[in-house]
Amino acid sequence: MPITFEQLTAHRIIPVAAIDVAEAAVPLARALVAGGLPVLEVPLRTAAAAKAIASIRDDEELAKAGMIVGAGTVIKVPQVETAFHAGADFVVSPGFSRRVVQHTLGMGMLPLPGVSSATDLMAAVDAGATDVNVFPAAASGGSAAIRALSAPFGDVRFVPTGGISAGNAAEYLAIPSVAAVGTSWVVPHRLVKAQDWAGITRIAQAAVALVGAVQK
Ligand code: 3PG
Repeated sequence: MPITFEQLTAHRIIPVAAIDVAEAAVPLARALVAGGLPVLEVPLRTAAAAKAIASIRDDEELAKAGMIVGAGTVIKVPQVETAFHAGADFVVSPGFSRRVVQHTLGMGMLPLPGVSSATDLMAAVDAGATDVNVFPAAASGGSAAIRALSAPFGDVRFVPTGGISAGNAAEYLAIPSVAAVGTSWVVPHRLVKAQDWAGITRIAQAAVALVGAVQK
């Protein structure tokens, strides 16, 4: 049973962490859970990514906490297979590919195709998608662009990713059509390298507080 878009975006922040060492995945995910964010996107652009997803999926404590884990940077169909075999719940792409979306749905996972223009959105909507990643969000016009795209694409729910930080997350989250933001801000690479799990929990807690203060 695939997770729903509502489940994926329930916390309104989807932490994104490129993981170099698979053994870091479980403590990292537990740190996010402790901070109130039981969700993680692991981009498939490190050698350890698939193993990292699989170890999060197999961890009983994380399963009890309702941890949601997905694969990012999925640009080709074989990566969908990799995500599936690792146990990913969802698949995020930086752009739109009908084949990637169809394959992801066929394997029982939730697709989040990427768009950065009205033309991309027309292709995604034409293929049946209603929920999209906006990438690269900040470089593609930021929150103003998403507000503008929300008018003609009234049924679409957006998850902007790319260039989102503590300083600008609220301006995206305040847009009614923005369900959540994806961001590496809550999982700084230097803290993962230093295995500073308490530090990641503190940032996750701050992110949860920021979400709580946003007015839509
Ligand atoms: C990525 O490309 O790693 C994600 O989109 C996250 O982007 P960010 O590091 O700008 O948050």
